[in-house]
Amino acid sequence: MSKIASLIPASLRSAKPSLIRVLNNKYGSDPQMVNLTIGEPDFNTADHVKLAAIKSILDNHTHYPHNWGTPGLRDAISQYLATHFGVHYDPSSEVFVTEGASGAISTIINGLCQPGDIVLIPCPAYTLYRINAQMAGAKSVELRTQEPDFKVTPQLLKDALDKYGSRVKVLVLNYPVNPTGVTYTPDELRALATVLKQYNVAILDDEIYAELTYEGHHFSLAKLLPDQTLLVSGVSKNAAMTGWRIGYICGPNDVLRSLAKVHQAAISTTATMNMDAAEEALRHGDHDTAVMKAAYDQRRQYLIKAMKKICFHFTQPSGAFYLWVKIPDNFAGNSMAYAEHLAEKAKVAIVPAAAFTNLPVRYFRISYAASMEKLRQAITGFAKVFADDQASYND
Ligand SMILES: Cc1ncc(COP(=O)(O)O)c(C=O)c1O
Repeated sequence: MSKIASLIPASLRSAKPSLIRVLNNKYGSDPQMVNLTIGEPDFNTADHVKLAAIKSILDNHTHYPHNWGTPGLRDAISQYLATHFGVHYDPSSEVFVTEGASGAISTIINGLCQPGDIVLIPCPAYTLYRINAQMAGAKSVELRTQEPDFKVTPQLLKDALDKYGSRVKVLVLNYPVNPTGVTYTPDELRALATVLKQYNVAILDDEIYAELTYEGHHFSLAKLLPDQTLLVSGVSKNAAMTGWRIGYICGPNDVLRSLAKVHQAAISTTATMNMDAAEEALRHGDHDTAVMKAAYDQRRQYLIKAMKKICFHFTQPSGAFYLWVKIPDNFAGNSMAYAEHLAEKAKVAIVPAAAFTNLPVRYFRISYAASMEKLRQAITGFAKVFADDQASYND
């Protein structure tokens, strides 16, 4: 141990790295393994977007940009949200560009929470909310959603808000949901908004998968509760731009003015040429998104059919690129044990529920942001393991 390692606080030392990353690192380099762990588009960024970045560099957009993001990108975000989802934000005062949607999440949680405060997280949920609450010294409280769709209900929300009172600073709402692939209907969101209106709580409204809604239209909570909602999104998923690290927060100006200080203290601002590329993607990328979405939808439908045929039970997916699958009842171990079982016997790497909740949920997540060939290979592996397991239980 180095001399200064002892200076690291115990809370940080004990914080666990994302299990998804751990599994991806473990299985990603194994050529025998079909790796369906990471939620990363398997498409490349469109050429016109790459060219916009190259042009940006050649035009010497190589200086510090405005710390809220370039005016061009903020304007593009504002127009994009208005035309695609009918939500309206003033580009100069209500749109703030962050380092990926991850930067938006950490900025909101670290900006709003102090030690002892509470972040409510309907679980299962993407790992970053919990990790950031921990970093801020806040307490994350998991809302225990139920099968089959694992959606938060107005009653669940009300009970938690009444129980924890003014300690609750942030409620996380993410939809389409990573990891379950479900989404909320306008009526469901209206019912949640009716409850939320009665409390002084900020909503970290993570809509990063909004464009990948396969059934019905995505409806934004920001339409219902503009005064409480911090809308988080980005270009990672809709434009296959995970490596460019561009996300954003839209919300009330007085809150953004404070959050801007948090983001500035951490990273000052994101890269100018990447913002120019994101602007191009938002202004002219609808066709690219449509092509990718059609491919994801084809894979989703294939998986639904194939997993049903094997006799796996799963949550009906209508968005994002995830399938949330129930571990067969007769498997004795927990979700981590089942993930290891599938890796060993089916040669398929997936993410166990343990990555998304501390509750003992017996499910796993398949990411179908992978080629049809890989998915077919995975199905062959799953079918064999499922059949072998059933045979061994019947022995
Ligand atoms: C629900 C959710 N929010 C945010 C992110 C982070 O997005 P970004 O890559 O833009 O930081 C992810 C990435 O997987 C996600 O699934």
